[in-house]
Amino acid sequence: MIPRYLVDFDLQSLPHVHTDVIVIGAGIAGLFTALKAAEQHKVMMVTKKSLLDSNTRYAQGGIAAVISDEDSPDYHRQDTLIAGAGLCSSAAVDVLVHEGPDGVQDLIRMGTEFDMEDGHYALTKEGAHSQRRILHAQGDATGAEIVRALSERTKQNEQIEIWDDHFVIDLITENGECFGALVQKPDGQKVFVRANATILCSGGAGQLYRYTTNPEIATADGISIAYRAGANIRDVEFVQFHPTSLCYPGAPRFLISEAVRGEGAVLRNMNGERFMEKYHPQLELAPRDVVARAILNEMEQTKSTFVYIDFTHESEETVKHRFPTIYEYCLNYGLDLSSDWIPVAPAAHYMMGGVETDLYGETSVKRLFACGEVSSTGVHGANRLASNSLSEAIVFGRRIVQRIEGLPPLERTPVIREVLGRNDNAIQPVVEKRLKLQKVMLRYVGLKRNAQGLEKGCEELKRHITIYDSHLSKREEYEFANLLNCALLTTQAALARQESRGGHYREDFPEKDDMQWQKHIIFNRVNGTTEGRIDDV
Ligand code: SIN
Repeated sequence: MIPRYLVDFDLQSLPHVHTDVIVIGAGIAGLFTALKAAEQHKVMMVTKKSLLDSNTRYAQGGIAAVISDEDSPDYHRQDTLIAGAGLCSSAAVDVLVHEGPDGVQDLIRMGTEFDMEDGHYALTKEGAHSQRRILHAQGDATGAEIVRALSERTKQNEQIEIWDDHFVIDLITENGECFGALVQKPDGQKVFVRANATILCSGGAGQLYRYTTNPEIATADGISIAYRAGANIRDVEFVQFHPTSLCYPGAPRFLISEAVRGEGAVLRNMNGERFMEKYHPQLELAPRDVVARAILNEMEQTKSTFVYIDFTHESEETVKHRFPTIYEYCLNYGLDLSSDWIPVAPAAHYMMGGVETDLYGETSVKRLFACGEVSSTGVHGANRLASNSLSEAIVFGRRIVQRIEGLPPLERTPVIREVLGRNDNAIQPVVEKRLKLQKVMLRYVGLKRNAQGLEKGCEELKRHITIYDSHLSKREEYEFANLLNCALLTTQAALARQESRGGHYREDFPEKDDMQWQKHIIFNRVNGTTEGRIDDV
């Protein structure tokens, strides 16, 4: 059983720190929302590493918004709904496509410099987009540029206090209301940060898998602490695998942006054959789940661990100018993007599901908000359209700040004493445990799933559940506890969904089943057990 809190503590005897708004996480969602909230409020920003460590920083392709006169919110809406495979909330998608351009203007006002071409913003195309609508920066370093601009502003803002290297162990709640967070300082001391509003911006869960484009910090912390706090967790069976991550001995699974295919790169199998025409009329720019599974099929058929991406039709100069980061990175491994076919394979990239929110980012727990990858706003459905994630973060970040304006001040602090008497048995080194979990997830809960594998996966994950009876004190231990929590939810949801849709593919139920399954799977922790619910879209 997963306990309500990961550690024993007595809230009244802990040091208390008061703030208006606590923002947990420092990717685009955290930085942007903190800056917006700081226009009216005192903000405490808590990050487990630093302002420069987040998934956002590695975003290459860009940010999708309707900028061109040839584009329209209706086209963007349509593309998003098609990619989402019947599970998007059309209201949330409307919010995204109509408010995205204003959000981009905010980013520009905050100092982000997007690439220009002939006096206009340069726009590229990515998979399943019918129009050129992806803004980018420094070619393929969009996330890094956004983080640069926003983190500089954040550091200069006197209304924002930044706590780097601090870990949020759990949220403090009583009767369905959030009072702030239990935070561990770098020296191990615990404090209670009491806040009128708590905004989870803690990113994704790529570290659930052995191969991922995400950094080490993407350990599902937000989903898991929100789950323990009683929030609704929705659609976590939908994990997006990016089709093209570098697959080369000794190299991390570095992202080879979809924008490379957007600019004309093609995919070839081990035999040098271009293969996407067998799978989808949009070829290399089909939705991500389609391309990722097509690659996996080709890998299986040719008994290879990778396929190739071929961008050799472009001149060296263009390649270097448009994709400088990818070009340089590949060159470190002796691979020249302008003249070599680059070996690539799918890798876990994005969690479509997350903490369920309304159209103002509020979760089912009062005063608790979620923004960015950790949230499930309804924008992505079963499969996220490329480059919609950065737009989602800014659009819903703005809305959260509007909503918190109306919150009455907190009037009390709950009395909480958590004493489960956890044991001090030495736990197996968490590095090993984490690796085992990642292998189980890759093997049984990856791109192709079936009942037998998912049941086996669940069983293997449950072997680690005794960790919750142990006394945890280190960041890696909390992270493992969070990964396990989320892995169990993802596996259970994947087992329950007996169909294939978007990022979730069941070999034993290969068809989409709208009659039974155009629905959400929602988990909620009630009295220590997980209750599952199936809700209409
Ligand atoms: C990419 O550049 O391919 C990633 C962009 C995204 O995940 O939306």
